[in-house]
Amino acid sequence: MKVLITGATGQLGLALLKQLKNTDYQVKITSRRKPQNINQFEWVYSDFSTGEGLKDAITDIDVIIHAATSPMKDSKNVDVIGFGKFLDMNLQIKHFIYPSIVGIEDIPMNYYKYKYQAEELLINSSVPHTIIRATQFHSFIENSLLSKPLFKKYFVPGDFKFQTVDTSEFAAHLIQLIGDVPKGKINDFGGPEILTLREMAELKIKVNNESNKVANLSFPGKLYRAFLKGKNTNEQQKLGKITFEEYLRNKGK
Ligand SMILES: NC(=O)c1ccc[n+]([C@@H]2O[C@H](COP(=O)([O-])OP(=O)(O)OC[C@H]3O[C@@H](n4cnc5c(N)ncnc54)[C@H](OP(=O)(O)O)[C@@H]3O)[C@@H](O)[C@H]2O)c1
Repeated sequence: MKVLITGATGQLGLALLKQLKNTDYQVKITSRRKPQNINQFEWVYSDFSTGEGLKDAITDIDVIIHAATSPMKDSKNVDVIGFGKFLDMNLQIKHFIYPSIVGIEDIPMNYYKYKYQAEELLINSSVPHTIIRATQFHSFIENSLLSKPLFKKYFVPGDFKFQTVDTSEFAAHLIQLIGDVPKGKINDFGGPEILTLREMAELKIKVNNESNKVANLSFPGKLYRAFLKGKNTNEQQKLGKITFEEYLRNKGK
């Protein structure tokens, strides 16, 4: 079985590669930058915004885990337009595994709107697929919302709820799907606990012995209310085991 991992240099892509090293799958990987220390895998340059390299990437492939995405810039081009063209090239594939995000239809953010459009493209295509949504990754919250205190304070919407999950556990779940039949849209994969962003910031301060404090932000609008209500969480799908605190304590070990 030959598997293609797109987005091989991303948070999820790297977690997938780490675990695929220990499997018998033949693995090809693709991204624009070349990941380090991946000599056992065949790497192909590709760009979803131009289509360059994608034909080479999919040659002889049975299963794709599509971890390429562009959350910040060029989202529409990469995650919808480029993605749609990529699907058209993949009509012969046995299984297209698509990681998505919990709550995207209820949270008014452009990136989530594009992820939802991509899900719809896949559902309405003839490509055999599995769509699996995850909650936000621990590393995403740490590296974005809690990355840089300002004047010794984390200015965050402290009442936002998150059910973050470890990328390694989500990667393992996706890898299990490789040998399975395409299942359409399946149950979400959520982290083990729902915390407010204030609680997450306080955990980071405690674990890293920081002298920073948390300053609460609020703003009007639907986006604020969606995260306040935890639309990005799924209480029924607490499948991950590694908590945010454990993730912070075990980093770099
Ligand atoms: N982050 C989260 O909290 C989270 C939660 C749930 C689900 N997900 C989903 O999990 C998947 C992976 O997310 P992630 O957080 O691992 O993303 P990420 O860290 O931002 O990585 C994105 C990957 O896409 C590649 N990429 C970006 N633009 C590209 C382009 N134009 N052409 C080809 N490759 C391109 C990047 O590689 P190069 O720059 O080297 O090309 C990188 O390898 C996404 O579908 C995301 O929606 C993420």
